[in-house]
Amino acid sequence: MTGQQAVGSVGQRREQGPIITIDGPAGVGKSTIAKQLASRLGYQYLDTGALYRAVAWKVRASDVDPADHRTVTKLLPETRITLEQSEDGVRVLVDAQDVTREIRTQEISEIASVVSAIPAVRQWLLPIQRQAAASGGVVAEGRDLGTHVFPEADVKFFLEADVDVRAVRRHDQLQAAGHVASLTQTQEQIKARDLRDQARAVAPLVAAADARLINTSALGVEAVVEQMMAVIASKL
Ligand code: DC
Repeated sequence: MTGQQAVGSVGQRREQGPIITIDGPAGVGKSTIAKQLASRLGYQYLDTGALYRAVAWKVRASDVDPADHRTVTKLLPETRITLEQSEDGVRVLVDAQDVTREIRTQEISEIASVVSAIPAVRQWLLPIQRQAAASGGVVAEGRDLGTHVFPEADVKFFLEADVDVRAVRRHDQLQAAGHVASLTQTQEQIKARDLRDQARAVAPLVAAADARLINTSALGVEAVVEQMMAVIASKL
């Protein structure tokens, strides 16, 4: 039985199929893996990190200190974030401005990590994430999807990888996107972000009890996606 057949026969609860979550730290291969899995299954890809990055972009554009909870919180009601499916992937709009590329810089990564620790930001993004996945048939990637955003997800994965492996991957990604960063700098930034993501009081980065753990240090994207397809076929 293929994953698609398996999924088609079970996604009764939601119109277009199940919700599959992929959580894990930065540089673990989540985005590439989630996109490929979504494409294999014919599902929508939901990048929840892009939403935190969109908030970070707004904070920066408004010249607000990301650590200033009160002022960041005040910005939220006047912010409109839209994810648009397009030919070349998902486009991210903030207040109707296309910020798809701008949210991928190292600076926005840092600001996103800081604002994602603000409880009001996480709370504000909850309905946006749930709405985006409401009809099902979604592969969603993030940090707290299996634990907080979609505790009822049909299949949950948590990806892990050694920090050095993750730094090299992130560095390659940044270079491919035309951004300049040294490997040591990337390594330090990943460690700092890991700490912040794991230590925050609200929805810290942790695997859901019912998530399938996959260590991607020595595995290529294809191998991980194959493992996931097998898990999905066995669960659905
Ligand atoms: O996956 P990413 O690097 O695009 O995520 C950007 C930031 O947003 C990162 O610091 C973690 C945070 N994030 C989060 O706290 N919860 C999510 N579900 C997704 C991302």
